[in-house]
Amino acid sequence: MPFLDKYRLIIRDAISKHKLTNPPHQLYDPINYILSIGGKQLRPIFLLMSCDLFKGNIERAVKPALGIEYFHNFSLMHDDIMDKATLRRGKETVHVKYDENVAILSGDALMVKSFQMLEDLEPQLFKKCFHLFSQTALEVCEGQQYDMNFEKQSDVSYEEYINMITGKTAVLCACAFQMGALLAEADEEDSKNMYEFGKSLGIAFQIMDDYLDVFGNQKSVGKKHAGDIVENKKTILYILARQKANEEQRQKLNGWYTITGENIDKVNEVLAIFNDLNVGDSCLELIKTYSDQAKNYLDKVKADATKKQSFYKLIDYLLVRES
Ligand code: IPE
Ligand code: IPE
Ligand code: MG
Ligand code: MG
Ligand code: MG
Repeated sequence: MPFLDKYRLIIRDAISKHKLTNPPHQLYDPINYILSIGGKQLRPIFLLMSCDLFKGNIERAVKPALGIEYFHNFSLMHDDIMDKATLRRGKETVHVKYDENVAILSGDALMVKSFQMLEDLEPQLFKKCFHLFSQTALEVCEGQQYDMNFEKQSDVSYEEYINMITGKTAVLCACAFQMGALLAEADEEDSKNMYEFGKSLGIAFQIMDDYLDVFGNQKSVGKKHAGDIVENKKTILYILARQKANEEQRQKLNGWYTITGENIDKVNEVLAIFNDLNVGDSCLELIKTYSDQAKNYLDKVKADATKKQSFYKLIDYLLVRES
């Protein structure tokens, strides 16, 4: 997206400047690998955009923004082990290219490095940002735990699902927007509204991620098609399908979602149920609902109207994203 490019360039430049060249290379190569294979780099862009919105010093925000991207990539390294995913950003996942132990330890190192990126901040700001970041990190782990718990639970409510994705995905987006505001010394009300804006946007973002798993194009998404069905993930598509299903369809879904491992019949049958129930369209409507909620928080933020335009554009872009 062209309007994000000026921030993306700053982040890409910072990533290459911070390339890890010290030994042992077995620990650091996988980090350089995952950071070099692309990704949308949205979360650090969120932070820089937010800092810019409140007329903050972008230069001071670059290392914290990098920290958020490091944390995200650490979580992906471990997530891909947990989800048995073989493809990420169109390339082999770290645990496939190297091995699981490497992905665990490199992930750990990357997580530590993510926190180190805050250490240049002056004490007062450091305290605020560190508190926000560490609390967010814990909530991401909680969300990931619920995500795994739900693999073995057929009866997951809509509320439980929203709570799970709020943890695993939305709070890191919220954290990025709020940290940008904190770094720019925005007032407390604006900084809280940016957090809530990011949370609603992050929920919409994860619902779209669930949608793309099934209805996206594997090539542009860069992840294996229908991996969530194989892993019995309780995605929004599953939640909506169960709400809409008749007794026979519900029994079928329950049956398929107890089977583990690759199974082409399972994927095809579940996809057929999703299509019969038109859950894709309901999913897109829900994304719109959360995007509207995000817009409401943004409306409340006291900032330059022209600068706010790029945030409205961001919402629109996330509604139609294909990767
Ligand atoms: C993937 O995030 C993990 C989720 C929380 C959905 P992104 O879709 O932002 O992944 P990259 O960083 O662009 O590859
Ligand atoms: C990932 O959620 C959330 C975190 C990594 C914290 P997903 O498991 O849905 O993300 P993808 O689809 O693998 O990118
Ligand atoms: Mg995953
Ligand atoms: Mg996962
Ligand atoms: Mg996913």
